[in-house]
Amino acid sequence: MRIAATADLHFTPARQNVLQDQFSRVREEADVLVLAGDLTNYGQPEEMTPLLNVVVRSRIPTIAVLGNHDYENGRQSELMAMMITAGVKVLDGTAYEMDGVGFAGTKGFVGGFGRAVLTAFGEPEIKKLVKASIDEALKLERALSQLRTQKRVVVLHYSPIVGTVMGEAPEIFPFMGTSRLAEVVDRHSADLVLHGHAHNGQPNGKTAGGVPVHNVAITLIEAQQPSTVYRVFDI
Ligand SMILES: [Fe+2]
Ligand SMILES: [Fe+2]
Repeated sequence: MRIAATADLHFTPARQNVLQDQFSRVREEADVLVLAGDLTNYGQPEEMTPLLNVVVRSRIPTIAVLGNHDYENGRQSELMAMMITAGVKVLDGTAYEMDGVGFAGTKGFVGGFGRAVLTAFGEPEIKKLVKASIDEALKLERALSQLRTQKRVVVLHYSPIVGTVMGEAPEIFPFMGTSRLAEVVDRHSADLVLHGHAHNGQPNGKTAGGVPVHNVAITLIEAQQPSTVYRVFDI
């Protein structure tokens, strides 16, 4: 299966024509399109509508998770409903199987990496944040547990490893994701992880358990030569 993946479109209506052009050949180049969050800039339905037009016209099965920007206006449920209506498989702690390949997805959350992972100690506010981070890891666990396919792809917005975040300012690493997600990926020995969010990170990395992780933020893909708007992975 060929998977075209991108993230962080931060879509605004002004970009519709350009994006339509850039996605015109995706159906020939891949069997499925993965959108790894931050589809909109401010989480407004007016931003989602033109993006869904592009997706629908591309006529390719599409799997997506939301990103933090899609939550900005508190209208994430509305956005998800719009996407589902347009035929997009929205993963939020859920799984989807297609042609023998399983996809498990959730947004993920902040929390930091390795020995610097934030723990639930001290103020209730910290405990609440850590709980939200653990909850996202549990959602991924649940999604992966549902899959019976031999090949399993994980779709996240936040990064599960520090490797694909390198290039961002070290001060913001804890806000780029958390290795709690990678622990789940390794426990289930998934085959491939796709994420976004770290616009200035690195395109390729690996979990401690050796699972390939790719940061498909559109900024990184556009910076490659030749410049494109999605990367294609074979699995
Ligand atoms: Fe983003
Ligand atoms: Fe983001």
